[in-house]
Amino acid sequence: MQTTRDIQSTRAAVAAARRTERRVGFVPTMGALHAAHLSLVKAARSECGYTVVSIFVNPTQFGPNEDFERYPRDVAADLAKCEQAGVDLVFLPPVAEMFASDAATTVHVATLTDTLCGPCRPGHFDGVTTIVTKLFNIVQPDSAYFGQKDAQQLAVIRRMVRDLDLPIEIVGCPTVREPDGLALSSRNAHLEPNERAQATSLHRALCAAREQIQGGQHDPDVVAQDMRRLIDAAGPARIDYIGVVDPESMQPIEHIAGAVLVALAVRIGQKRLIDNVLVDPSEQTS
Ligand code: PAJ
Repeated sequence: MQTTRDIQSTRAAVAAARRTERRVGFVPTMGALHAAHLSLVKAARSECGYTVVSIFVNPTQFGPNEDFERYPRDVAADLAKCEQAGVDLVFLPPVAEMFASDAATTVHVATLTDTLCGPCRPGHFDGVTTIVTKLFNIVQPDSAYFGQKDAQQLAVIRRMVRDLDLPIEIVGCPTVREPDGLALSSRNAHLEPNERAQATSLHRALCAAREQIQGGQHDPDVVAQDMRRLIDAAGPARIDYIGVVDPESMQPIEHIAGAVLVALAVRIGQKRLIDNVLVDPSEQTS
């Protein structure tokens, strides 16, 4: 496994791999790698002969009061996990390599970023789309792998790639969960034991929503109210949002008739957790 820290040697390494005409797969991350990140690597490796992972805690996608400083970082453990998972190249740039001090350009995806996490985290998605565009231009992969856990991020990146004609296939991968349903997240490590127990209410609320919708509920307000009750009953939490939206446009649905994304963001203590499910009302309740 090769490790690079600058753009030039990253381009050279990928170009050398391309000479053997292998498909290049790319998994962008912010490190603190866990089983969900590795599931993206596995998906990339199953389709591509050469797999690149980037590890970069991108300061521009964190708000001034967010956890950029406290975001977990463990490069040695991350590299060991990448090696074990069969990654070919890890790109680990320092901030100065990615951002000139007078950088003046951002990539903004409109409308899709106006809902759900957008209003709660001003500037967040611009930070994501700008860094992902830069990483795409550096690595120039054939396909890039993103988790459904961050459904809005995935939808925003799909739209950006379509709108800007980037020649990259975006592959969405299923959310990886703990046995009790909690979606894996680097931030779970910061949960106190009582908060960790409380956090299972997010997935329980999403499952209840799916059951309601597949049982014939068409009113998103009724679905959201019941979810809110379930989360509040689990302990003190601040619900940033519960949204029932169109899975592509991220716009709120007024009457549930086709597939919807049910998404939520909840603060438990200082930790902000997000999760979602895609629900097709025509599927049978399991
Ligand atoms: P990060 O939070 O490190 O996540 C990297 C990738 O892992 C994302 O595509 C995310 O959706 C996926 N992921 C995280 N937890 C997951 C889970 N439980 N199940 C499935 N996939 C999961 O997302 C980012 O980094 C950044 O915004 C990034 C795209 C790298 C841009 O900086």
